[in-house]
Amino acid sequence: MIETEQLAYPISDSEFLKLKTLLYEVSGIALSDHKKSMVVSRLSRRLRILEMSSFAAYLDYIDKTSGESGEKDELVQMLDLLSTNKTDFFREQHHFDFLSERILKDRRASQPIRIWSAACSSGEEPYSIAMTVYDAFSSQQRPDILSPSCKILASDLSTRVLDQAASGIYKMEGVRNLELPQLKRHFLKGSGVQEGCVKVKKHLSTLVSFKRINLMDDCFPIKTPLDVIFCRNVMIYFDRPTQECLIGKFHHVLKPGGVLFIGHSESLNWIQHQFKMLEPTIYQKEID
Ligand SMILES: C[S@@+](CC[C@H](N)C(=O)[O-])C[C@H]1O[C@@H](n2cnc3c(N)ncnc32)[C@H](O)[C@@H]1O
Repeated sequence: MIETEQLAYPISDSEFLKLKTLLYEVSGIALSDHKKSMVVSRLSRRLRILEMSSFAAYLDYIDKTSGESGEKDELVQMLDLLSTNKTDFFREQHHFDFLSERILKDRRASQPIRIWSAACSSGEEPYSIAMTVYDAFSSQQRPDILSPSCKILASDLSTRVLDQAASGIYKMEGVRNLELPQLKRHFLKGSGVQEGCVKVKKHLSTLVSFKRINLMDDCFPIKTPLDVIFCRNVMIYFDRPTQECLIGKFHHVLKPGGVLFIGHSESLNWIQHQFKMLEPTIYQKEID
């Protein structure tokens, strides 16, 4: 494993400040100075690939490269390299128990439900939601009923993780937490070049659609109000004003009575919001 300071390019304070500011402006991620060596190490690899000699040249390149979408191409690459994408199937199991026992229990499979996994990383979270919904309706479930009524939107800023998520392919060790019957029910075992991997079955993948959404956007591309939002383990990287603004936007796109899940190391204690706390990390938009 070669990720040493030795191979890192030198960076001046003003160059680091420019990178930090750029990252904050585009993604809301507020980097602290102790992340400098991580930033330099991850981006030095990129500089080598681009055969660039300095961070000054790289910053200039970011500024000059414009993508077809109008967003700067290299900026997307930089975000991909600097974002932290750690995730897991059924991470914070208690949220999936709450979804199953308190939100889905008395619903009919044919009753529409809209769920958003915002900042979904490589897809373990939205597929865990899909498994929870599918299993909750297992007595009534028929894919032709569930598929049009349950829609799970999964989004992230990083195109790299979204591609991974949309493939639905995971290494065996990534699904080690799942019980065998669950694994058999929801995954296909890879063979040949896919040996050692599993792929989510179609009854799950048809429930989930992937889209690149930046949580910093002024408004979200959501037309139908949502029943549930999972936004876990990303707000921790945002400063308080950014968190407050995001929580306000989530409130706006949820139905009255809709539920917001946040990460276990996150809290709405220090910010202004209009939610009612049901349990720590679980909030509800009040019914008018
Ligand atoms: C640590 S992962 C959390 C994944 C999952 N929610 C979980 O709890 O397991 C954080 C994710 O947030 C994404 N992210 C960071 N800033 C974002 C932004 N401004 N808009 C959308 N996603 C963002 C990152 O790309 C990363 O995939």
